[in-house]
Amino acid sequence: MVQAMASDFKKHIHPYISHMSNPIYHAIVAEVSDQHRTKDGHTTVGYALYIHSYRSFMGRAVYMDDLYVMPEFRGKGIGKALISKVAQVSDKGETAGCNQLHFTVLDWNKSSMDFYHSQGCFDITATKGDHCMRCEGEALEHLAQP
Ligand SMILES: CC(C)(COP(=O)(O)OP(=O)(O)OC[C@H]1O[C@@H](n2cnc3c(N)ncnc32)[C@H](O)[C@@H]1OP(=O)(O)O)[C@@H](O)C(=O)NCCC(=O)NCCS
Repeated sequence: MVQAMASDFKKHIHPYISHMSNPIYHAIVAEVSDQHRTKDGHTTVGYALYIHSYRSFMGRAVYMDDLYVMPEFRGKGIGKALISKVAQVSDKGETAGCNQLHFTVLDWNKSSMDFYHSQGCFDITATKGDHCMRCEGEALEHLAQP
């Protein structure tokens, strides 16, 4: 049953087509057939959001901002199918020639870190001392003063 469902899910992993000419982000959604819809009636059960980016030392890259699968659909290969699709975008698709897929994970999210490690990803804060920095609120307004 799970195998049948997993292959069913993979067939329905597809890009969400934005009608904006220069979209701010791209999305890939996981949809299930009507027979597997949630009790609330949803057929979209997971998504990955990503943007194209560039790193001075590495060149073209893809930044995955979010990856999510609804709890009752986890452990069925959907998260893997979604991140695989984002990897295909960076390796062969619209950003072919990318040599990096990067993203951040909160340190309490051990389960997701384990998932990413199981997919061959690694923690660059630990290995390269690469810390994630941010500017927001008043500091951003102040910085943006001409
Ligand atoms: C992380 C998440 C997307 C994984 O999705 P999923 O559909 O449950 O994962 P899959 O079923 O595709 O798992 C694929 C593989 O990862 C492994 N895996 C999944 N979760 C794992 C975990 N917590 N620890 C170790 N391995 C894990 C599976 O065993 C499977 O291995 P296999 O390829 O050898 O069979 C999902 O748990 C989720 O949405 N979590 C909440 C949202 C979140 O925190 N997202 C990350 C934000 S940075």
